[in-house]
Amino acid sequence: MSRKILVTSALPYANGSIHLGHLVEYIQTDIWVRFQKMQGNECHYVCADDTHGTPIMLRAEKEGITPEQLISRVWQEHYDDFTAFHVQFDNYGSTNSNETKEYAQGIYRKLKEAGLIEVRSIEQFYDPVKNMFLPDRFIKGECPKCHAKDQYGDNCEACGAAYAPTDLIEPFSAVSGAKPELRNSDHYFFKLSDKRCQEFLRQWTKSDTLQTEASNKMQEWLGAEGENKLSDWDISRDAPYFGFEIPDAPGKYFYVWLDAPVGYMGSFRQLCGKSDLNFDDYWKQGSDAELYHFIGKDILYFHALFWPAMLQHAGFRTPTKLFAHGFLTVNGEKMSKSRGTFITARSYADHIKNTEYLRYYYASKLNGTMEDLDLNLEDFVAKVNSDLIGKYINIASRCAGFITKRFQGVLADLNSESAMQCIGFEIGLTSAFESQSKAIAQGYEQRDYSRALREIMWFADKANVFVNDKKPWELAKQEGKDYELHLVCSMALILFKQLTAMLKPVLPKLAAEVESFLNIAPLAWDDITSKLPAGHVINEYKHLATRLDPKLIEAMVAANQESLKPMTESHSETRHAEHQQHAIAPIAETISIDDFMKVDLRVARIANAEHVEGAEKLLKLTLDIGEAQPRTVFAGIKSAYDPEKLKGRMTVMVANLAPRKMKFGLSEGMVLAASGETPGLFILSPDSGAQPGMRIK
Ligand code: MSP
Ligand code: ZN
Repeated sequence: MSRKILVTSALPYANGSIHLGHLVEYIQTDIWVRFQKMQGNECHYVCADDTHGTPIMLRAEKEGITPEQLISRVWQEHYDDFTAFHVQFDNYGSTNSNETKEYAQGIYRKLKEAGLIEVRSIEQFYDPVKNMFLPDRFIKGECPKCHAKDQYGDNCEACGAAYAPTDLIEPFSAVSGAKPELRNSDHYFFKLSDKRCQEFLRQWTKSDTLQTEASNKMQEWLGAEGENKLSDWDISRDAPYFGFEIPDAPGKYFYVWLDAPVGYMGSFRQLCGKSDLNFDDYWKQGSDAELYHFIGKDILYFHALFWPAMLQHAGFRTPTKLFAHGFLTVNGEKMSKSRGTFITARSYADHIKNTEYLRYYYASKLNGTMEDLDLNLEDFVAKVNSDLIGKYINIASRCAGFITKRFQGVLADLNSESAMQCIGFEIGLTSAFESQSKAIAQGYEQRDYSRALREIMWFADKANVFVNDKKPWELAKQEGKDYELHLVCSMALILFKQLTAMLKPVLPKLAAEVESFLNIAPLAWDDITSKLPAGHVINEYKHLATRLDPKLIEAMVAANQESLKPMTESHSETRHAEHQQHAIAPIAETISIDDFMKVDLRVARIANAEHVEGAEKLLKLTLDIGEAQPRTVFAGIKSAYDPEKLKGRMTVMVANLAPRKMKFGLSEGMVLAASGETPGLFILSPDSGAQPGMRIK
């Protein structure tokens, strides 16, 4: 019987680009969904952009656009990136939708009716310049324990102490630099500490909903039976906030993490609107549909505690399972901008072009656990070339041409006794596919794609042994071997078809090309064991894929490093900016005043600023520092500034830096900008009155 399955991937934040780390999740999910569909199950895959919160609001403000403009631009970028990697959603929405708003407010009302919402006044820092309450992330100051400067609002990166932002010495707003004031404000809490939530979560954890590692984590969070370790969850934020207003609470907004998972429902509701699917069939308590959330291990807390508790007490079904995965490392280390391994989806697609190579590599590494996954760039090239090209594509490329040239594209009848005798090929192999295809299916189903691919490559090896033994290229040169040549090449193409069906969840585009070359209907899972009728005519073989050239990888890494050189390194991956902590970079080694004076810093007027065609990160600035000719400087600030807004502004440049030849022209200096782990990149401005050319010392 066909299953009814709803699958989601976590909703990417709308304040950053999709990168290779994200793709671990989206590719993993997409493979699983494609596999389910191939099996004939009814499977729907929805996702959306996660659009709310303070960082998005502030970023839009800095770019001089509305949050709606920002999120619609990013939505398109994300959507295009996913499409490039063949991640095929049945609906890709946005949390900033009417559907999501309705469900978020509906769930909130239900929780309130159930007595699970409580209002409490809390004291919080307020930025009197920006007129807003500051999330912990946006408050800095001196650590009350070790006195390290510039620490974030809830724990110290230097000594590890945890504290409240109010404990910081000389706190300041990271948004405006102003001294924050303490103010009271009413906040809304979801009472996770309530007995009902505790009991429900304990039981939910035990119902086979989590991987072992995740369920251990849950036990830790929940504490021992009888213990009450969960605290209530603050689900409100004060205006100004980009998000949904809380019903009957003017000026109060849902914290981004309240409506984010509701975005799964909102996106599915949109899918219902354009198909004949029924929302309640999938979401009502008691639904017989399966619901799976693919997530990274870092957001397990939200999905394993808050989310099921919200659903349960608002009359909805809870997830069947959470599929959590680990984090991506590149060459064994965290992705890094200075090493050029912080690679965006766009940059990969521009440099490598073939995005299925990455799908294949990730699949070969994924095993359904929460372990981290390493993209070793050398191994990546080796694996693509040896497995994908060497073992799989090669079967077709060595045999297909003969069928077209010598046999008018017609396949031989392989079913006769004489055929089998003639090619001496154990029919056993084709029937072995049958039982092995079950093992492969199991690998896919359990998200142990590495196992599935190992099994598949075992067959590819067998098929290659067959081709190598029979040597069609030699048969082709011998008199009277036509029949054998015909049989061998036909057999090889059947094996190729079977391999293609097995690989199709991982390589959907390639599979479509093979289907058209073999002139067959779209392959379903059962086709792994199906044959082609005698006399079947195939189309001419066209190149399916080429070897991956390591030079492309080098160029990609260099490009990701290079575009940052004219600037200070911009912030690395910013995630969950509202509640996560980051270290500041250590202070550089001490220098003398003479050393400092070697740097000639000048006040510069930005006479012109423009986009650079083909440059991902650069703006071309024309800087007036009082010289006869203005200077041209390429600055990596495109992500943070609209060139129109820069024109006429004063800033600071290094005027005696050796000119540097770049891909787009000569860069005659450098502008300075501040950046950290929080979002954003900030160029400097002198106080008013400073004139172009003044020296800064
Ligand atoms: N917006 C939240 C999710 C809300 S779901 C209701 C979020 N967004 S994110 O853009 O930061 O991450 C999206 C997904 O990508 C998460 O599941 C996250 O774990 C995953 N990854 C982000 N960086 C990753 C790596 N470097 N490696 C593997 N997965 C990573 O979290
Ligand atoms: Zn400290």
